[in-house]
Order: sequence, then structure tokens, then C-alpha cells
Amino acid sequence: MENRKYSCATATETLEWIRAIIQFIKPYTFFWQSHVVNFLTHRLWEAVDEEWIDCLRNEPVECLIQIPSGIVQDRWPSSLKKFITTLSSLAFPREQADLKKLLPNMQVALLNNVITQGMNPKKRHEIEALAAVVGSVARDVETNTIIDLGAGQGYLSQVLSFEYQLSVIAIDASSHHGRVTHERAERIKKHYEAKMRKSSLGGKGVTIPRTVTCRVLSSDMLTTLLNSKDGDERCQNQSTNDTCPLLLTGLHACGDLSVTMLRAFLESEEVKAVVSIGCCYNLLSEEEDNALCGFPISSGVKSTGLHLGRNSRDLACQSADRWKVMENDASLHNFELHAFRAAFQLLLSRYFPETLSGSPTIGRQGKTLRRQQQNSRMNGLATNGCSCKPDSTSGKDEHVDTCSLFEKFSKSGLHRLNLNQPHDVDFAGIWKEAEPFLEVIGPYWSLRAALGPVLETLILLDRLLFLQEQGDSVEAIMVPIFNPNISPRNVALIAKKI
Ligand SMILES: C[S@@+](CC[C@H](N)C(=O)[O-])C[C@H]1O[C@@H](n2cnc3c(N)ncnc32)[C@H](O)[C@@H]1O
Repeated sequence: MENRKYSCATATETLEWIRAIIQFIKPYTFFWQSHVVNFLTHRLWEAVDEEWIDCLRNEPVECLIQIPSGIVQDRWPSSLKKFITTLSSLAFPREQADLKKLLPNMQVALLNNVITQGMNPKKRHEIEALAAVVGSVARDVETNTIIDLGAGQGYLSQVLSFEYQLSVIAIDASSHHGRVTHERAERIKKHYEAKMRKSSLGGKGVTIPRTVTCRVLSSDMLTTLLNSKDGDERCQNQSTNDTCPLLLTGLHACGDLSVTMLRAFLESEEVKAVVSIGCCYNLLSEEEDNALCGFPISSGVKSTGLHLGRNSRDLACQSADRWKVMENDASLHNFELHAFRAAFQLLLSRYFPETLSGSPTIGRQGKTLRRQQQNSRMNGLATNGCSCKPDSTSGKDEHVDTCSLFEKFSKSGLHRLNLNQPHDVDFAGIWKEAEPFLEVIGPYWSLRAALGPVLETLILLDRLLFLQEQGDSVEAIMVPIFNPNISPRNVALIAKKI
């Protein structure tokens, strides 16, 4: 397969891109359907081309971490370079689009310190860009009523309301979020009222987003909600109540919620446009016998019979842009964590085999472990409580250090899984068994991670194709609207009925 540029301007081109992805990734199911926790128990490295592993085991971490971004080294075997660069050519490009060129009528409101209170720089960047895009599309389809689905604490809703004078309904499953959104909006409102009074426009007419608490589980449910009393004030600023055009939006609406939004856009006559940025693909439903599942949704992908599975959807959530800028130390730490987790899985398989069928998760122990690593480096050997004895003949201090950290990691893992530690757990033995293979966990992880952006592309193209399959009545595009270094999950699906 040559490294070509793909397009998704039409349904035919999108389907061609999707097929190219599926054709390329199929022989590599051993990467995308696996999970790094099983690295040792399933001897995952054995499925990978030996030449690739032999080459990468000697590579510095800064080269490994560039693999998911498609960066290769001349000295690598050509088949390895081809694998990485082909994946890169199949992934949707993430450079931020020139939004003013794309949406010539776009006006960007610069956000003041009152409305951005509580937002971190990432959120501020996202809200500033997305609000401008939503404002522009709303103007295009002549609506001033926005439904913010999965509104969280209402940052987007409030900016659309106060800065773009749009009428907004903020829907979220969490009543806590609804309360926070409302209270925050009331505080911000005072600032805007005072500003209007000063500018002699009077303090009236500042409206706040309406909050609705509802776990939206289907497009039917959303449509019913919009037509119910919870939604009946939605057209308050509309000159006529005959029709009430709506724009649906959602910033990082998790799992199926983004898909529900697209279905509601097609099913409800009132919804004229949608601006959706998804996330948490791991939460997508993917049952083969459910026509309304979250993946796949297009007829094109359904007809291929592809099933991704949980591990691949997890992988699709990972971000190459984040690793690209990672410090070497942090990357090494990331690999160490995977090594500990894989060795812990080996321990579970020996002492608690019955737990493995439930895919045990022990959460992120990264921060604690990192602190312990730093302390142990500062204090010399951390042999405290570790049954691994220093090897005085070879002076393998580092082995002891890591082994004691593994013991701590495992004890904490057992505790989190509510498992009583048997007296005979041989932490040192497990670690000794794992250690010879751990130098290839970094290469394995990096190669597998290179599939992440392509899997995400596949999920996004499926959504785009779903809209394109409607024919000329819908215009749909996929655009990276954020700077990927600030916010890597940056692709917006923008669609309008025409
Ligand atoms: C990742 S957060 C994004 C929040 C907000 N849009 C932002 O970017 O700041 C996703 C939000 O969606 C809400 N959510 C998830 N599933 C939902 C559902 N089925 N119906 C309504 N809200 C949902 C969650 O409660 C959460 O607040």
C-alpha cells in the first residue's frame, strides 16, 4: 500500500479511506485486540516481527515515543518503516484548521476573566474555538437556539449565552453539574448586567442557559425531551413559535452520546445543524445485534462486518500528539508502569487466576509510584520490606530498587482488588521471571500505540459516512478545530441540513 493522501469529501472517498484502513489493520489484530496488561501472561511480543523487536529493543526512548506520530529512523528495517508510515498516512491529520478561512462569517469573542473563571488553559482554548464555530454555524442555519449535550459545568453554554447572545439549553446526566452550571451562570450574569448598565444598554435582557438533568440514552429520548416541558422554553428568543430551528452541540460528549446527537440531527426536523466533538470511544456500545449501537453506525462500515472490541476502542482514545511532546523521563515512567502492571497480571495469574476473567482494573497508580521512585532514588536502595535480596556479587542495586517498587505496586494492587495477600507470594520470583522481557515492553507499546490514531480515524469516518449516506440533504465535514498540542481530541464533525 503506497503512502497516499486520503480524502473524505464525499461518501465514496470516505468509504475508500475506511476500506483502506480495515485492509491494512486486519493482519495486525494481535496488536489492536490485545491489551498491554497481558504482555507477559500472553507473551504478546512473540506475535511481532522479530526483526522489528530486535531493532527497537536497542532504540532510545525518544525514538520509540515518536513512533505513534509516524516518525521513523533511517536505520530501521524497511518493513518496520513501511508499517509506521502507512499507519501515519491512514490517520486523519490533526493540524488545527484555518477556521476563519473555513467559516468566513465566524466572529471570535475573546473571553474575559469572569467567564473563564475555573477553566484551565486547555478548556479555555477549546471553549473559545468551539463557541466561535457554533456561533458561525448557528448564523448559517438561522437559529439562535442551541442544545449543549453533555454540558458538564456549562462552560460552553455560558459563553454561547453571554458572549454570543444565543439561547442555550444545557443538558447533562449529572444533577450536580446542572446545579454548578446554574450557580456559575447566575454569578456571571451579574457581571454582564453591570457591563450593560454601564454601557447604557440597561441591565435587562441577559439570559442564562437553561439547565436540564437527564441521562440521554437515545435520539428518541432526546427528541421527546426537547418537545417536553423541559424544552418548551427553548424558543424564547425566536420571533415566531411555528418552527424552532435548533443546533445540537457537545464538547467531548462521551461514548454513545455523540452518536445519539447525530441520530437526533437526522431524525428531528427541528434540528438544523450539529457540531460534535466526541471522546471516550471505550464507552461506545458495539453489540452486533443492536441496530442502534454506537459503533458502527454507517451502512458502509456495517457491511464490512468489522468488530473493534473494547481493547481497540481503548486504544483509539490514546493520543499520539500528547506523547510526541512527552519528556523522556515521563515516557520511561510510562513504560515502567506498563511493566509493573504486566508483571502484576502475571502474579494474579499465579495466585488469583479466578480474577482474570473479570479483567481486573487497579486504576492509575502512576503518581504514587513516581513519588516512591523519586524518594528511593534520593534515599539510595529501597529494600524496605522487599524479599528481593541485593545481589552482592553483581551489585545489581537497580534490580533491587525496581523489585521493591514492584512489590509495593503489587501490594497496593491487591488491596485495590480487595484480595488478601497470601503468605507465600514470591514477588521477587515473579519480578525475576518478568525482567528479561521488560525491555521490549516499550517497543511493543509504541508499535501498538501507532494504531491508536488510525482506529480513532476509523470511528470518526464511520460517523461522517453515516451523515454523507443521507445524500444531498446534508452537508457534513470533519475539521480539527483545536491546536492538537493543547487539546489532542480536536476533530469536530460539523453538519447542516440544506
Ligand atoms: C467529558 S465531559 C464533557 C463536559 C463538557 N462538555 C466540557 O467539555 O466541559 C462529558 C459530560 O457528559 C455527561 N454525560 C455523559 N453521558 C451522558 C448522557 N448519556 N446524557 C447526558 N449527559 C451525559 C457527563 O455527565 C459529563 O458531564
